[in-house]
Amino acid sequence: MPIEVARTVADLRARLGDWKCAALTIGLVPTMGALHDGHLSLVRRSLATTDRTCLTLFVNPKQFSGGEDLAAYPRAEAADVALAGAEGAHLVFAPGAEDMYSKGFATQVAVPGLGDILEGEHRPGLFTGVATVVTKLLMQALPDHAFFGEKDYQQLVVIRRLAADLDIPVAIEGCPIVRDADGLALASRNAYLTADERRRAPALYRAITDVAKNVAGGGDAASACAAATKTLIEIGFSSVAYIAVRDAQTLEAVTDSSRPARVFAAAHLGRARLIDNVAV
Ligand code: PAJ
Repeated sequence: MPIEVARTVADLRARLGDWKCAALTIGLVPTMGALHDGHLSLVRRSLATTDRTCLTLFVNPKQFSGGEDLAAYPRAEAADVALAGAEGAHLVFAPGAEDMYSKGFATQVAVPGLGDILEGEHRPGLFTGVATVVTKLLMQALPDHAFFGEKDYQQLVVIRRLAADLDIPVAIEGCPIVRDADGLALASRNAYLTADERRRAPALYRAITDVAKNVAGGGDAASACAAATKTLIEIGFSSVAYIAVRDAQTLEAVTDSSRPARVFAAAHLGRARLIDNVAV
């Protein structure tokens, strides 16, 4: 049987309401579509954790700023619905922009501090857009668990913060990064890479892995990051937005090795902006 698609919040709530009445637990997997195995790993984790899994498909205009790729962002709804169904998900929620943001929509959820650094510094408004839509999705579905990838590690930290701050009764679950065999983290935007760029792209993962090893071995973070930046430019990246070693919970600059840290990076290769992170 093909998987059911809900288009409106009312339809979503009707279907989830049936399941809640039957005392079934619900997992939510928010995505912007163009599904790949990274997204599907979240679906699998939800299926293993909860009784019913709802995947959401919504390219959220509020998290794209002026010069960004909203119009070009890959869209493949029919294929996505088929993939979600084949994986065993129970429902797809694919609202239109006008259902998500009705006329007069004015509210924003901002997470200053965590949302203003790293990705937020380079893409102003990104995390307010993300926090606003994720808050809406969580309030619309009121799932027991919601699943997010460590691929977007800062996003995961921002979402944990907003769910705690707003007392949203959901367990936020972070899931490991799915990579291709050569180390490149799967991402919908990898579709922008030419064949030649795709061959160069795994250098980002290698570079941050080297930084992590260096820092774990007592090396200086700033010089390790500078060396990694130089390597990426030599390999053909047009620019490196940042490579930084940060506390894994607070995202603050790391001053000593007593708490878990991660290396975060963003860099441009051709038309693509690639982001990645690894644990130290
Ligand atoms: P999107 O980029 O489609 O990603 C949806 C979810 O899949 C996110 O939680 C992301 O971290 C996870 N994901 C993507 N690639 C992954 C990979 N290689 N391994 C593991 N997980 C991966 O992130 C968004 O959409 C949006 O910001 C959203 C949260 C849906 C709000 O609009």
